[in-house]
Amino acid sequence: VPTGRAVRASSRAEVEAAFDELGAPHVVKADGLAAGKGVIVTSDREAALAHADAYLPSGPVLVEEFLDGPEVSLFFLSDGDHVLPLSPAQDYKRLRDGDEGPNTGGMGAYSPLPWLDGRFGSEQEFVELVTGEIAEPVIRQLDAEGAPFIGLLYAGLILTDAGVKVIEFNARFGDPETQVVLPRLVDPLSELLLAAASGHLEDHTRPAFADDVAVTVVLASEGYPAVPVTGRPLTGLREAEAVEGVHLAHAATAESDGGLVATGGRVLNVVGVGTTFVEARDRVYRAIGEIGLEGGRHRTDIALRVAEGL
Ligand code: GLY
Repeated sequence: VPTGRAVRASSRAEVEAAFDELGAPHVVKADGLAAGKGVIVTSDREAALAHADAYLPSGPVLVEEFLDGPEVSLFFLSDGDHVLPLSPAQDYKRLRDGDEGPNTGGMGAYSPLPWLDGRFGSEQEFVELVTGEIAEPVIRQLDAEGAPFIGLLYAGLILTDAGVKVIEFNARFGDPETQVVLPRLVDPLSELLLAAASGHLEDHTRPAFADDVAVTVVLASEGYPAVPVTGRPLTGLREAEAVEGVHLAHAATAESDGGLVATGGRVLNVVGVGTTFVEARDRVYRAIGEIGLEGGRHRTDIALRVAEGL
């Protein structure tokens, strides 16, 4: 399975040697779960070393090759033996427009990715490639190791000049990509999940997706991601949902005094479906304009480039 070159380093000297071998930007990862704070990507060698120093006392760290290129998420359903791909999506991880600011849990997403056509011929050819080179070998290997994977395999991919490479796997749906993949899914999701859970994906045809496009924009609380301000009232949700092609996916809301309040950092997703990205974006941003949340923030450039045909 194609991925970045990686060195497991147990000492500062090994980390430095790996930096020399792999070059900048440096990627240092804690070799284990680290509450989302385990990775640093930087050209600042001292900062990269400091990150390694923080984790080395508790075990080796991974120094990885930097993978340069657009990031794509592709989900697969698996029954442990067979896989069925869903449709690719792209998310926006940084807080502010222009991919500025800190990393977040995701500030927006869109699907499909028409620019894949220029690189791979078509979305279908891209999906075939990733299915054959990445998803199927992983599922086969897990099965061979006596750990069949039944569920949703999330492949995080970087489209490098040297080919499609895996940057991460997750054993769950991606957020907020799922908010733009599922509205386009024609087949009932429940049937697909049941087929995966009961070992019958082989009998199922490839999931079909509408030609419609979907865009989602996340509304976040003031202070997110550092220290989100919670408890503030939300207004205009009914008006937002009245915009054609729009629905809301709530993430951190709760009822209070007959209304709704924000209870966390990423509060809700405004999802817009349309026949073009211009239309879907127009719907999403009209809807988000209806919503009131003191100090609330959202990105204004979700799917902008793809809407401009870039
Ligand atoms: N969109 C990134 C994730 O779900 O991890």
